[in-house]
Amino acid sequence: MLVTNKDLMVSARKNGYAIGAFNVQNLESMSAIAEAAVEEKSPAIMQITPSVIKYAGLAYISKLVKTAAQIAPVPIAMHLDHGEDFETASKCINADFTSVMIDGSYLSFDDNVALTKRVVGLAHAKGVSVEAELGKLAGVEERSVAEKDAILTDPEAAVVFVEKTRVDTLAVAIGTSHGAYKFKTEAKLDIERLKAISEKMDIPLVLHGASSVPEELVEKANRYGAELSGAKGIPEEEIRKAISLGIAKINIDTDLRLAFTATIREALTNSPKNFDPRKILGPAKDAMKEVAKEKMRLFGSSGRA
Ligand code: G3H
Ligand code: 13P
Ligand code: ZN
Repeated sequence: MLVTNKDLMVSARKNGYAIGAFNVQNLESMSAIAEAAVEEKSPAIMQITPSVIKYAGLAYISKLVKTAAQIAPVPIAMHLDHGEDFETASKCINADFTSVMIDGSYLSFDDNVALTKRVVGLAHAKGVSVEAELGKLAGVEERSVAEKDAILTDPEAAVVFVEKTRVDTLAVAIGTSHGAYKFKTEAKLDIERLKAISEKMDIPLVLHGASSVPEELVEKANRYGAELSGAKGIPEEEIRKAISLGIAKINIDTDLRLAFTATIREALTNSPKNFDPRKILGPAKDAMKEVAKEKMRLFGSSGRA
C-alpha cells in the first residue's frame, strides 16, 4: 500500500530502525526494490530524482512506482529525491507522490527556510510529507574544524530551521557525500554532531550519501571491465551508530547502480552469443534486489511491514 515517508519514519525513529530509501530509475530498479520489500516483509521508500524524471518521464515513472506500491502487500512511499524548486515539488505532488524533498541546501539559511516553508504549505494541505536539507554533502576529509563547521549541519541552526519551516523530516550533513568516492583515507562520520542534533529534536532524520560501496561489488565490476579503483563508502558500523542516533531514512543509490551494472558487464562478457535484453537485465535486477534486501536487514526494517 502507498504511504507517506512520515508514516514510516516516525515509527522507525521511535523503535530504533531506519527505512531504506532506494533510488529507482526504470522498471528493473522498481521491481528490484518491490520484490526485496515483499521478501523481507519490510517497508520501503522508492525515490525519484529530477534527473530520472527527465530520463523516464514523470507520467511513466510515477505510475510505475504507484502501481508497485498499490500491488505490494507492504507499505511503500513514493518520494521526490533532491527536488530543487517549488515547481518540481508541485508537479510531483500532483502526480500522487506521498512525500517530497525540497533541497534548498545550495541556498542561504533564510532562502532555504523560505523555499521549504512554501513547499510545506502546499504539501501539508494535500497530506504529503516533506524532507528538507540543512548543511552540505561535500567531502569533509582533510578539512579544518572551521571548514567542517561551515559545511556540516549546525545543531542550533537545525532547531531553528525545523521550528520555522515545520518540515516533517530533516536531512543532515555529517560527513557523507554522494557517489562511489566518499573518502580517501579514514571512512568516518561526525557522530558527535549527529548526537547533538538528535538530542535537540525528535523529528526523524535522514542520511544521504549512505552507500557502503562494498569491495566485492567494485571487484566484480572491475573484473568485467569497469575502472573504479579507489572507490570507498560508509562502513556498516557507522550506519548502525547513525541509526541508534535518530537516522530513520537511509538513501541508497550508488550500491544499487554498482550491483546492476557489474552484473550487466558479467552477463555480456559470459554470454557473448546472447542478445535478449531480458537475459541481461533480469540477473542485473536480481543483483540489485539482493543489495536492497541486505540493506533492509542492516537497517533493521526487515519484518517491520
Ligand atoms: O542523490 C541522488 C543520486 O545519487 C543522484 O541521482 O543521478 O538521478 O540525479 P541522479
Ligand atoms: P549514495 O550515492 O551514497 O548511494 O547516496 C544516494 C543519495 O543520497 C540519494 O539521495
Ligand atoms: Zn541524496
